[in-house]
Order: sequence, then structure tokens, then C-alpha cells
Amino acid sequence: MTEKADDAARMAAADLGEVADYFNETFAKFGATAKGLDWNGEATQLLSMEQCCKLFGDKTAFSLIDLGCGYAPFLDYLRKRKYEPDYLGIDISEPMIEEARKRFSGDRRARFEVGALPTEEADFVVASGIFNLRFDRSDEDWRAYILRTLDAMNVAAVEGFAFNCLTKYSDADRMRPDLFYSDPCWLFDHCKQYYSRNVALLHDYEKYEFTIIVRR
Ligand SMILES: C[S@@+](CC[C@H](N)C(=O)[O-])C[C@H]1O[C@@H](n2cnc3c(N)ncnc32)[C@H](O)[C@@H]1O
Repeated sequence: MTEKADDAARMAAADLGEVADYFNETFAKFGATAKGLDWNGEATQLLSMEQCCKLFGDKTAFSLIDLGCGYAPFLDYLRKRKYEPDYLGIDISEPMIEEARKRFSGDRRARFEVGALPTEEADFVVASGIFNLRFDRSDEDWRAYILRTLDAMNVAAVEGFAFNCLTKYSDADRMRPDLFYSDPCWLFDHCKQYYSRNVALLHDYEKYEFTIIVRR
């Protein structure tokens, strides 16, 4: 980790206490289910995972950091398919990480950490569902948080990374003030300018969300 990324990690963890409390509560109420992670349902959760998997291309064996892993449903998803990752799951919620450790206690290729940013390098880094809930943070602060996190993902990811955000092209009457709706064009441009020439913007699936994939 660079000194800059290390500073960002400390700042991000300190800033996200309210978000961690929120997910601790949803987990206490609904347990290791899609609702426990505040998804509308399993189908929408899986649809986001499907997009993230496009990052891997033909590869099936690789190291992976899952930032905001929750109780690690993405690892279930990957193991049920053709993928065999060396997996590090990171989450700001301690109960989620405890649950993930229990669920994968027999899996020697899965590790878990409480944290807010990648702590080592991996072939790929994925973050699904971590840029949405901003409570009363200003647009400016939340954008800065997103960029700090993306900078750290970019440093950690050897081959590439993927993330998703709620889209500003959502139906206005269904938008909530405590959620952040990102501009996909702004993030696409940022990734192209600062991270890589190879950037894909996926905004063609049935969700008020887009996924960005950055490859080296
Ligand atoms: C909507 S859930 C998504 C969980 C999982 N990625 C999935 O696809 O089902 C968001 C999770 O990210 C965690 N989280 C939010 N911001 C984070 C951050 N900056 N670093 C690590 N975890 C974060 C929350 O505690 C929560 O468990």
C-alpha cells in the first residue's frame, strides 16, 4: 500500500460508521439473505454479480478482493459457477465478516477482514453496492469518497477492477435523498482519464444501476 492509499483507508473507515451501523441492523433483522444486505431481492443482487463477472473474461482462477463483501454471497455465486478464486472479502460491518468467516470456515482459499479499502494487491478487485447509501452526505463529499475508494481499488488491482453505482437516469419519482445516484458519464470519463484506456460502461441491464469495468 502507498502512503496515500493508507491515509485514504483510515479516512474511509472513520467516515463510514453510520453506513456500517445501518448494515449491522439489516443483517440483525434479516440475516444472511439478500434483504440482510438491503437488496430488494435475490434476483437484483444476482444481476449485479453477473455484470461484475464480466471483468474476469475467460479467466477462472485468479486472486480477488471483494470490497463490501457482506456475508460473502458473491463467493457462493462464484464457487457455484466455473470460478476458483483466491478470495479476500473486506467489509466495514463486523457482524457480516463474522458470518462470512463462519460460512466459509472450511475454505482455505477464502479470507476475510473488517475494513473499508483493499489492504493488498490482487488480480481483480470488485465492489458491488458500496457507493449507494450516503445518508445526509453532500454530493461533493460523496463524490470525493467514491473517487478515494476507486483510487485505492486501482492501486490494488493488478489486472482490473469493477464497481457499480445507482444511476442518475433513474425515475425521478422513485429517487431517495439518502441514496446517491451517480452520473455514469462522469465516472466513465474519470476511469478513462486516470486509470486505463480499457474501460467498459454497462448500462444495458434492467436495474437503476450501471457497472464500470476497468482492465489494464
Ligand atoms: C448492498 S451491500 C452489498 C454486499 C455484496 N457486495 C453483494 O453484492 O451482495 C453493501 C455492503 O458493503 C459494505 N460497505 C459499504 N461501504 C463499504 C466500504 N467502503 N468498504 C467496505 N465495505 C463497505 C456494507 O457494510 C455492506 O455489507
